[in-house]
Amino acid sequence: MGRHYSHKQRREFTDANRAAWDEAAPVHEKINQARLLEAFSKPGYSTLEDHCLHRLNEIGFQGKSVAQLCCNNGRELLSLKNLGAGPCVGFDASAAFIEQARELAQVSGHTDVEFVITDIYDIPANKSGPYDVVVTTIGVIGWMPDLDGFFDVLERLTRPGGYVFIEETHPVLMMYEEGEGGDPSYLKYSYFKEDPWVETTGLDYYEGAKYKSSPHYSFQHTLADTMMAAINTGFVLRHFTEFGYNIAEFCVDLEHTQARPPMGMTMVWQKC
Ligand SMILES: C[S@@+](CC[C@H](N)C(=O)[O-])C[C@H]1O[C@@H](n2cnc3c(N)ncnc32)[C@H](O)[C@@H]1O
Repeated sequence: MGRHYSHKQRREFTDANRAAWDEAAPVHEKINQARLLEAFSKPGYSTLEDHCLHRLNEIGFQGKSVAQLCCNNGRELLSLKNLGAGPCVGFDASAAFIEQARELAQVSGHTDVEFVITDIYDIPANKSGPYDVVVTTIGVIGWMPDLDGFFDVLERLTRPGGYVFIEETHPVLMMYEEGEGGDPSYLKYSYFKEDPWVETTGLDYYEGAKYKSSPHYSFQHTLADTMMAAINTGFVLRHFTEFGYNIAEFCVDLEHTQARPPMGMTMVWQKC
């Protein structure tokens, strides 16, 4: 695609998004943190979805070093740790969410899980691994103004022979606008949309809480954009799955329509 942002523009997008995610953090804290603190104080707790865990088990993460990009409140990384991962590092730009992640890590009692506040494009060299397994779960790629740069980061973090696991909203689903008040979701955007979505709706994805947030910027990346960015970085595709059911609480009604679009996907890439 013909979309290219300068380093300065990329920085402006991610600074704005960081501010919007920091605003979402107290909303999520109120909804979820007490429950998660209780849950992570017991051994073995996991919030990982089965379709992710299945793939991650195939890759093999037990005893392996794991990094998660855009780890938010760290619940998934801590879940991997509870299920036997080796040393873990989570990266996220939002200081407010990383604070929640550190609280959860503390009650879990794990000493080799670290959470780092950073724009993923600026991960410091001393935290760059390499790691055996690098993970991103749903709701990450759309925040990336620069997909080639994103895969460069993944490549740098992954050890030779190591794996990248990606769970993401399917780009076809991003053509839809969610119906309001029980109305059906409907096609609205081009699959090839080049300009960012600029929104001031809140970013709560637990309960869909509505509040006015500072502007945030997200980006459509076609399947070809993502595949080619990974291939050009030298990754080899080991697995690709598309899901026809809701994995993101977005346009959930489409799951039951006759013309059901693809809704989610997982990918496993190997650095060879
Ligand atoms: C949808 S959320 C997290 C996804 C994860 N599946 C979850 O539910 O915890 C997206 C996260 O990406 C982070 N983020 C967005 N852009 C980022 C960037 N450029 N660098 C680091 N983190 C970023 C946000 O702060 C937010 O925590």
